[in-house]
Amino acid sequence: MSKLSTPVDAALFDFIRGETIQEDDLLRDLRQAALAAGLPEIHIAPEQAAFLQILLAAARAVRVVEIGTLGGYSAISMARGLAADGHVITHELEPKHAAFAEEWIAKSDQKDRIEVRVGDAHETLAQHADGTADAIFIDAEKEGYVDYLVQSLRILRPGGILLADNVLDGGEINDPNANSPRVRGLRDFLKRVRTTKHLQRIIVPVGDGCLVAVKSWPPM
Ligand SMILES: C[S@@+](CC[C@H](N)C(=O)[O-])C[C@H]1O[C@@H](n2cnc3c(N)ncnc32)[C@H](O)[C@@H]1O
Repeated sequence: MSKLSTPVDAALFDFIRGETIQEDDLLRDLRQAALAAGLPEIHIAPEQAAFLQILLAAARAVRVVEIGTLGGYSAISMARGLAADGHVITHELEPKHAAFAEEWIAKSDQKDRIEVRVGDAHETLAQHADGTADAIFIDAEKEGYVDYLVQSLRILRPGGILLADNVLDGGEINDPNANSPRVRGLRDFLKRVRTTKHLQRIIVPVGDGCLVAVKSWPPM
C-alpha cells in the first residue's frame, strides 16, 4: 500500500545514511580538528552536506555564495558539486574561523575553488553584483536571516537556488512556547519567504531542516 509519507524511524534513517555519500577522511578530520582548535562544533550532518553537493551538481551551479563559513565543511562539500569552472565565495565574521577554514580548504581537493571573505556578511554581501550567483547558502546567525534573504534575492540570478540551514531549529520552530531571538528570526525569515512572489519553496527535513527555494524564471 502506498503512503503519502513514510515515517522515518532511527533504523530507516540509518539505512538512508548508508545509501548516501559518506563523510570522507578529510571532512571527518576537519570536524575533529575544529573542536580541538576551540571552534564551535560543526553541526552540519554528512547527509545534509551530500544533499547540498548533489543539488548544486544537478543544477550545474558555477557561482555559489555561502554566508557563515565556520571551518569550511559545507563550503568544501558544496564545491565538490560544482562544474569544472565552479567556485564558492564564503563569508565569515570571525577571523579565527576564517583562518581555520582557509587552512583546511588548502589541504582539500577543492583548494583553488573556494575563497573566504572575512567580515560582517551584512556588509560584505554588497561586494556581489546583482544576479551573479547560481546558488546561495545562508548559515550564519539566525537573527540575520531576513536581511540575508533580502540581499540574496538581489544577488541570485533568475532561476537561482536559495538554501538556508536550521529552519526547523531542533523542532522549536513548531513549538508555540518557543520564543528565543533565534526562533523569532527563523519565523520572520520563513514568513518573508512565504510572502515573496516568484519563490518556489520546500523545507527538506535533512539535518536541522534545509529550506530550498528557487527564484522562478520566467516568473510564475
Ligand atoms: C553554523 S556556522 C556555519 C557552518 C558552516 N556553514 C558549515 O556547515 O560547515 C555559522 C558561522 O557564521 C558566522 N557568522 C555569524 N554571524 C556572522 C555575520 N554577521 N557575518 C558572517 N558570518 C557570521 C559564525 O562566526 C559561524 O562561523
